[in-house]
Amino acid sequence: MAPPPTFLLPLLLLLLSSAAAAAPAAAANSSASPPHAISPTASPSPARNHSLSPTTTPAAPAPATATATPSPSASPAALPTPSSSSSALDPKQLQALESLNIPLPKDPCSAQSAATACDAGKPFRHLTSLLLANCSPDDVALSFTALKSLSTLRSLSFLNCPVAAPARLPADLAASLRSFSCVRSLRHLTGVWLSRLQNLTELTVSGVPVNASGLYVILGNVKNLRSLAISRANVTGYVPKHWHLNTSRIDLSGNQLKGRIPTSITFLENLELLNLSSNALAGEIPAEIGNLISLKNLSLGSNSISGSVPESMSAIPGLVHVDLGSNQLNGTIPKFFTEMKSLKYLNLEKNNFHGIMPFNESFINKLVVFKIGDNSNLCYNHTVMSSKVKLGISPCDKHGLPLSPPPAKADSSADDSSSSDNNDGDDSDSSGKSGRHHGPNKVVLGFAIALSSIVFLIVFLVLLSRCCK
Ligand SMILES: *[C@@H]1O[C@H](CO)[C@@H](O)[C@H](O)[C@H]1NC(C)=O
Ligand SMILES: *[C@@H]1O[C@H](CO)[C@@H](O)[C@H](O)[C@H]1NC(C)=O
Ligand SMILES: *[C@@H]1O[C@H](CO)[C@@H](O)[C@H](O)[C@H]1NC(C)=O
Ligand SMILES: *[C@@H]1O[C@H](CO)[C@@H](O)[C@H](O)[C@H]1NC(C)=O
Ligand SMILES: *[C@@H]1O[C@H](CO)[C@@H](O)[C@H](O)[C@H]1NC(C)=O
Ligand SMILES: *[C@@H]1O[C@H](CO)[C@@H](O)[C@H](O)[C@H]1NC(C)=O
Ligand SMILES: *[C@@H]1O[C@H](CO)[C@@H](O)[C@H](O)[C@H]1NC(C)=O
Ligand SMILES: *[C@@H]1O[C@H](CO)[C@@H](O)[C@H](O)[C@H]1NC(C)=O
Ligand SMILES: *[C@@H]1O[C@H](CO)[C@@H](O)[C@H](O)[C@H]1NC(C)=O
Repeated sequence: MAPPPTFLLPLLLLLLSSAAAAAPAAAANSSASPPHAISPTASPSPARNHSLSPTTTPAAPAPATATATPSPSASPAALPTPSSSSSALDPKQLQALESLNIPLPKDPCSAQSAATACDAGKPFRHLTSLLLANCSPDDVALSFTALKSLSTLRSLSFLNCPVAAPARLPADLAASLRSFSCVRSLRHLTGVWLSRLQNLTELTVSGVPVNASGLYVILGNVKNLRSLAISRANVTGYVPKHWHLNTSRIDLSGNQLKGRIPTSITFLENLELLNLSSNALAGEIPAEIGNLISLKNLSLGSNSISGSVPESMSAIPGLVHVDLGSNQLNGTIPKFFTEMKSLKYLNLEKNNFHGIMPFNESFINKLVVFKIGDNSNLCYNHTVMSSKVKLGISPCDKHGLPLSPPPAKADSSADDSSSSDNNDGDDSDSSGKSGRHHGPNKVVLGFAIALSSIVFLIVFLVLLSRCCK
């Protein structure tokens, strides 16, 4: 009857080593952040670069001489002639550039220059686009005379150039500019200063304090704006009600805007990006938001927006990025998100949603970023969601209410249901970490014990069957 010990010894060793291997694997599993919780802070720099690069100016009737577009990708095509055979930059403008005291290429009109672009004028060419980047504030001098000589510019950009802003721009330059960008440059700007740039189609100001009694001061005179970004500028007041109907991008994130999202913004049927995140907005999302049929990126995160997610949003076919996190939204989470074919980023965390989360695992795995934690009355159906997906919400009981997390002291409850109890919530940062710290260890321990019992049983049965033959 007694099993031969030579059989048992290697099996025992195998068993012990597998139990030992299980422990670090499970520990690593619980500490590594899941793919869905990719921090959004990784993305701002490409987004900023994107908004900086001047895109081709939309269909404004341009004089035939000024065909060179500021877009770097288009400039080789716009300047087909080798620089030797074409005319040179207007000497007056060359002198003005030199007086700015910034390092520039020898021939600012050559196609290789990323910071400058010229028209194809004869006998002299003129600057149409200028980017001043990473300048040292002590050297650069933005004199009125030099700027006046550069009044052919249609695009002017500053990137990391903390020189003092010129007290005012020459009127010719202000009228000529179609695109103005100021990222972490010029120390501070005022609404009145910006309001003189009346012919802009693109305005980008980011990381610069803008002193204005309201955005209407800036936008009131600008009639043709297609792309607006005034972000991280500590602008106060309200979201403007009046917009150009062809506006395609609005980024007012990271300011101190208050009040409601105006319903008039939903008239902008060409709007592709709306970013109002990190302000102090309240009230509900306009029920008519579904009129924004071109919308791709919507960010309303980190405000105090309340109410439920409007059903009309299901009518927006091309949504890629939806961030409604860190608000006071309530109601149930609509199922229509699962029908949005292009959706890649969905953030609904830190709200007051309740009920059963309507998403299954295959939907969540399709997304690049999915966040839903910190909604204390929300739960997931564990029959459609494996416990490996860490959501930061509890599984539902059979009534569709969140199962309260098991009390930490109850030892026996850890191993009876293999489904997930301790797994969820671990990804959501800091909060309650201390309470859960010994939880995963118990799961590992319970798992190891259960595994070894099963293996033992199998070994025993095999041996038993051999013995009895
Ligand atoms: C700029 O806009 C004004 C009206 O606001 C217009 O009179 C002027 O011709 C425009 N300037 C250029 C260079 O297009
Ligand atoms: C906005 O204000 C906050 C505090 O009032 C300050 O810390 C921050 O630097 C300001 N941002 C800018 C771009 O000036
Ligand atoms: C902003 O404007 C207000 C009133 O227009 C003024 O009192 C204040 O000094 C300005 N702040 C800065 C930093 O220019
Ligand atoms: C909006 O843009 C389209 C083409 O992009 C143009 O046909 C239309 O006239 C523009 N509308 C306004 C009000 O400028
Ligand atoms: C909105 O702005 C914030 C902060 O400026 C940024 O992190 C976020 O990626 C932006 N969202 C979209 C959809 O562009
Ligand atoms: C959601 O919030 C709104 C306003 O804050 C409130 O009127 C409404 O009753 C809430 N609905 C639910 C289902 O809690
Ligand atoms: C829109 O959102 C997508 C997905 O998060 C992102 O990759 C893209 O850069 C965003 N576009 C803009 C213009 O911010
Ligand atoms: C997950 O949900 C989507 C949308 O509701 C559905 O089409 C798909 O069949 C579901 N997948 C599984 C594996 O249940
Ligand atoms: C969970 O999903 C299963 C399968 O779709 C379903 O039968 C069950 O009723 C759901 N549970 C709850 C609480 O909705």
